[in-house]
Amino acid sequence: MKLIRTTSYEELSQQAAAEIISRIQSNHRLNLGLATGSTPTGVYKQLIEDHKKNKTSYKEINTFNLDEYIGIAKKDPHSYHYFMCENLFHHIDIPLDQTHIPDGTAKDLKEECLRYEQFIQEHGGIDLQILGIGQNGHIGFNEPGTPFDSRTHIIMLAESTRKANSRFFDSLEEVPKQAITMGIASIMASMEIFLLVSGTSKAEALARLMNGAVSEQFPASVLKKHPNVTIFADNEAAALL
Ligand code: F6R
Repeated sequence: MKLIRTTSYEELSQQAAAEIISRIQSNHRLNLGLATGSTPTGVYKQLIEDHKKNKTSYKEINTFNLDEYIGIAKKDPHSYHYFMCENLFHHIDIPLDQTHIPDGTAKDLKEECLRYEQFIQEHGGIDLQILGIGQNGHIGFNEPGTPFDSRTHIIMLAESTRKANSRFFDSLEEVPKQAITMGIASIMASMEIFLLVSGTSKAEALARLMNGAVSEQFPASVLKKHPNVTIFADNEAAALL
């Protein structure tokens, strides 16, 4: 794993965005894996700014999001569909039918997991996957204990994850209890991975990732086994290294 330390969240966002843009410029048909949450929003802002200024085009790009809440309609402002439209898709020239996110309202959720997994593979797999990390080490919504060989699946969200994400809802009760997430093996099948880590609240998780053992109890530790991972961490997140 290569670690890039930056002095601020803004610099982290700029540096990660610059690398993403260079991957898009050398492969106009890049399959780009995306994450939601607070951490990547700065990168998305940079991608939008660059698209406006430099006309980097997403017309042939396909995107694949990591996860989606179960039981939240796409049009609901709490859905990750909505989040991605607001924070990225509506501001660049990507055709919406090339943006892919698991359907958390599918009638048959198990079937939806299989479909999503196969769909990614039929598209040739993910070239570059963007990840954030949970304080408990989750990647995607793969909570501690998720098997390393898991593919896209239904997961019960950890209470700590629901609490952390309750900032996007009116109350903790409203936060869904389940989500569909790409599995650990699905994520590890990506050709390249960028892990974005920002803020003091992630310092312990980053220190555990860098210095701790590879264990299913700390899902992000699996990234040590991947040949092409770059971690972008700001000073606050890197404070315990
Ligand atoms: C989001 C996702 C999660 C987040 C993680 C960190 O699609 O898969 O793993 O990346 O929960 O979230 P933030 O960035 O809000 O701290």
